[in-house]
Amino acid sequence: MIFAHITDTHVNKPGQTPLFGIDAGARLRAIFGQLGELGEKPAFVLVTGDLVHDGDADDYRHLRTLLQEEGSKLGVPVHVGLGNHDSRPLFREGYLGEEASEEPYWYSVQEQGLRVVMLCTQVPGSHDGELDDTQLAWLRRELREPAPLGTVIGLHHPVVETPSETMDSHLLKRPERLLEAIEGSDVIGLLSGHIHFHSAGLFGGIPSFAASGAAFGIDPTARRSMRFIDSSAYNLVLVKSGRMICHPAMLPGDQTLLFEYTAEEMHA
Ligand SMILES: [Fe+2]
Ligand SMILES: [Fe+2]
Repeated sequence: MIFAHITDTHVNKPGQTPLFGIDAGARLRAIFGQLGELGEKPAFVLVTGDLVHDGDADDYRHLRTLLQEEGSKLGVPVHVGLGNHDSRPLFREGYLGEEASEEPYWYSVQEQGLRVVMLCTQVPGSHDGELDDTQLAWLRRELREPAPLGTVIGLHHPVVETPSETMDSHLLKRPERLLEAIEGSDVIGLLSGHIHFHSAGLFGGIPSFAASGAAFGIDPTARRSMRFIDSSAYNLVLVKSGRMICHPAMLPGDQTLLFEYTAEEMHA
């Protein structure tokens, strides 16, 4: 089975000043276009947060329409989760069409025998990522029974270290609590975003991959500053023989520097 892991779409509705002058919606549509060219249809698309960029309910309505259009063109379900640039109440109102509330958004769904668990690492009013006791207790209960092809977990904040001192402050806080909850379960891999560059490592022996951003990238070699790069990427994920294998995919782009926060600016 293959599926696509897209993250950090940062889409806003048309008519606003675009972030870094880029058209994030067009980039997201281009990724779906590329998925349509694959020889094999992906089983589903997983989007791990920073869905819109500090947007309102209309931004979420716009994204929902875009994902519904592209998902149905491809003929695949699209599952989304929240990141630090998302708002729980505005997402619930605009994307889910529900009453606005601060209720965190996590769930489990099965796709062709693979269990997909989306966690909510978002902390309202903060860019940090954390999982509370309630969510971890739910996760333990959810993983009690194994799924036919195992489980993949989507979450916005990565759990393994990066080469960048700056980005390491953006990892999931207290990751050992998540590790405790999934150890000994059927989890075959974790998929995250947030850092806007491709990253892979083992989390207690379980493969953990972050995908670069669909809207823009961040330069992992800038160890003390934050360099935003003109790029658009995602992960193509293969599930085979009980293993999860990720293939970073990039759209054609010029990879130029869009904007840089120096270390001094970030700590001012
Ligand atoms: Fe992001
Ligand atoms: Fe983020």
